[in-house]
Amino acid sequence: MCRRNIGNTCVKYANIKDMDLCNLSYEEVKEIASKCQKCALSQTRINVVFGHGPVPCDIMLIGEAPGADEDEQGLPFVGRSGKLLTQILESINIKRPDDIYIANTLKCRPPGNRTPNPSEQEACWPYLEAQLNLVKPKILLLSGTPSVKRVLKIDEPISKIRGQWFKLPGYPDISVMPIFHPSYLLRNPQKTKGSPKWLTWQDMIEVKNALEYLKKVKELSE
Ligand code: URA
Repeated sequence: MCRRNIGNTCVKYANIKDMDLCNLSYEEVKEIASKCQKCALSQTRINVVFGHGPVPCDIMLIGEAPGADEDEQGLPFVGRSGKLLTQILESINIKRPDDIYIANTLKCRPPGNRTPNPSEQEACWPYLEAQLNLVKPKILLLSGTPSVKRVLKIDEPISKIRGQWFKLPGYPDISVMPIFHPSYLLRNPQKTKGSPKWLTWQDMIEVKNALEYLKKVKELSE
């Protein structure tokens, strides 16, 4: 079905295939996701938490899945871990929501905040793929193991690979860095040298340097 031939929004996207999402605008993908019933999480969600921030945007972060606060408000990272994430980003002068686009591997809350399962992540991936194509980040932060596993297809503990730069297969322009999830940092609040919080601070300095480098390259090419 071609969306442009049908005027009624309710049936407009009835037969849209996942691969077609990449030809749609941000608002169109968001509208389709808002009615998604591709997995059982659609039965228990309050809101679809699509993502938030500027489009396009040089930096994007992908977390795990919405929690209770996110489900209620329809926005990513607005609960306790979101507040810590905001502080971490502000430490390198990245302000939410203007300077970073934020999404999750899942758009709907898993009951009891359990870890997303691979079939749910698979069902949700076409939306995230469309977001990556529309947001066009140069730097992509993956927060937490489920996000690293799904996006980079790497099955290593986050403690081993955090702070390293990876390339995203199929996206040669995107540099990817895994970082600790803020909820892990809330459970490990110590700031001593070598602690998760201290390591996250080192990672953020690295991200800040990468953003400054990008800015310089942009200025030189203008
Ligand atoms: N944890 C996540 O991974 N994402 C959110 O949006 C909130 C908490």
